[in-house]
Amino acid sequence: MNLDNKISFVLDGKIQIIDFNDSEYTPTTTLLHYLRSLPTHKSVKEGCGEGDCGACTIVIGEINSDKIQYRAFDSCLIFLPSIHGKQVITTENIGNSDNLHPVQKALYEFDGSQCGFCTPGFVMSIYALYKQNHIPNKTEVTDAIAGNLCRCTGYRPIIDAAEYVCSNKTEDIIDKSEKETVALLNSINKTETIFISNSEQKYYLPFFKKEALKLRKENPQAVIVSGETDVALRVTKKNELIPNIIDISLVKDLKFKIETDNAYIFGANYSLEDVRQNCRGKLDALYDMLCVFGSRQIRNRACLGGNLGSASPIGDAIPVLMAYDTELTLESVNAKRTIKLRDFITGYRQTKCNVDELITEVYVPFPTKEIIIKSYKISKRKDLDIATVSACFSLKLEAGKVKNICAFYGGMAAWTKRAINTEKYLMGKEWNRNNVELAMKELVKDFKPISDARSGEKARNIMAKNLLLKFWSETEKVK
Ligand SMILES: Cc1cc2nc3c(=O)[nH]c(=O)nc-3n(C[C@H](O)[C@H](O)[C@H](O)COP(=O)(O)OP(=O)(O)OC[C@H]3O[C@@H](n4cnc5c(N)ncnc54)[C@H](O)[C@@H]3O)c2cc1C
Ligand code: FES
Ligand code: FES
Repeated sequence: MNLDNKISFVLDGKIQIIDFNDSEYTPTTTLLHYLRSLPTHKSVKEGCGEGDCGACTIVIGEINSDKIQYRAFDSCLIFLPSIHGKQVITTENIGNSDNLHPVQKALYEFDGSQCGFCTPGFVMSIYALYKQNHIPNKTEVTDAIAGNLCRCTGYRPIIDAAEYVCSNKTEDIIDKSEKETVALLNSINKTETIFISNSEQKYYLPFFKKEALKLRKENPQAVIVSGETDVALRVTKKNELIPNIIDISLVKDLKFKIETDNAYIFGANYSLEDVRQNCRGKLDALYDMLCVFGSRQIRNRACLGGNLGSASPIGDAIPVLMAYDTELTLESVNAKRTIKLRDFITGYRQTKCNVDELITEVYVPFPTKEIIIKSYKISKRKDLDIATVSACFSLKLEAGKVKNICAFYGGMAAWTKRAINTEKYLMGKEWNRNNVELAMKELVKDFKPISDARSGEKARNIMAKNLLLKFWSETEKVK
């Protein structure tokens, strides 16, 4: 274990080292606060501090087979140690008022900025898209900036600027130094577990699963973080001091995707954006749900293991993966077991994951041809909003009758729950409107939703019923 109490990363074309000994920074200082503490990176703005406005968006470069992959992230949700071994890019690194980057120039020329508070965040979201080296369509452009709020300009000129600049890409300052940056990134230790501590906190940063499991066994009280998008809010919003953290975000052998003839197997650290980009055509209900999951910045960071591990009653991947009959692999130092996701969650944010275990793999079978799976999410806004009610249904029909149906709902109970009475009622019946409307009455027996700021009990019941009806209306012709 590396006990130097230091992390290294690339910023401003150089390796930067943060020494946490006698430092103004703690292991849970966010990247946003670090950048704003520097005299040279004040463009990074703090708006909400919780991933909702995108004012703090930066781009992070990570080595991917000798090339650098550039992605946008909310710096307010990143604990400093997890940037170890990466390249951090802010607007100051790509251009300045004497020499604007094409993205900055386009926003200026298309009148895409007024007060300017949101502009550096937009620049970085558009820059990440620009670095993908392909001409995006309008949906891709709006998806790339859905995590950035602008209160004064209006989005049309911003979208126009993004479409223009991404269709007219030229080599830029970051491309020109990419070889040197790769060499710098490769020179940083990414094998020996890093341990950061101060008088109040201990932060472990392993690079391998074996080491992560060992740390998990030795520190059962430690909080696990993968993408941190859930846990970081405990620090940024609740001012909580988390004394012990095992950050598994850099564990390489938990970040993978394997495709077999009949399933995808994802490592727990596979990001939700990577899942989204891979599941279209194979797991369409999952794709649809991930298209309305948070924002690009959130999905780039959040991991499958984190969404399932959070066991949130409004975790969007949970009802969908339950409908696909997903299995999880849970591992500890000496043991490995599999469990169905349907049996994994036991209560409000409670799971069957033991204190010495980690979710390591997520096995998602491809549905057979005759099974229809569809997902739905009702929220106050389409983008960047959490679900009021969500649902995912799986249906198998035989001669127009229900051979099998599974209905999983989020937002209707303290955890993602199955509508057992509704399913029972529909089994063996004709898949017609009359039977579905009668089944909708059974839903009231399945759930007793709460009333909260997002919605009332009565409204949630109506939404749940109507989602079943919507599913029927979209599948009635498939008989
Ligand atoms: C602005 C914003 C928007 C959001 N929008 C959505 C949304 O639309 N839909 C939605 O569902 N959620 C949303 N979230 C919540 C959050 O992003 C997701 O739950 C996300 O999937 C969490 O993943 P993570 O990797 O960031 O988890 P983390 O914060 O790292 O961890 C979450 C929990 O999972 C546990 N955990 C992580 N990895 C493992 C593992 N391998 N084994 C065991 N336990 C593990 C951790 O201990 C922790 O309790 C949003 C959050 C923010 C801040
Ligand atoms: S400050 Fe709003 S997303 Fe980070
Ligand atoms: S230009 Fe003012 S918030 Fe966007």
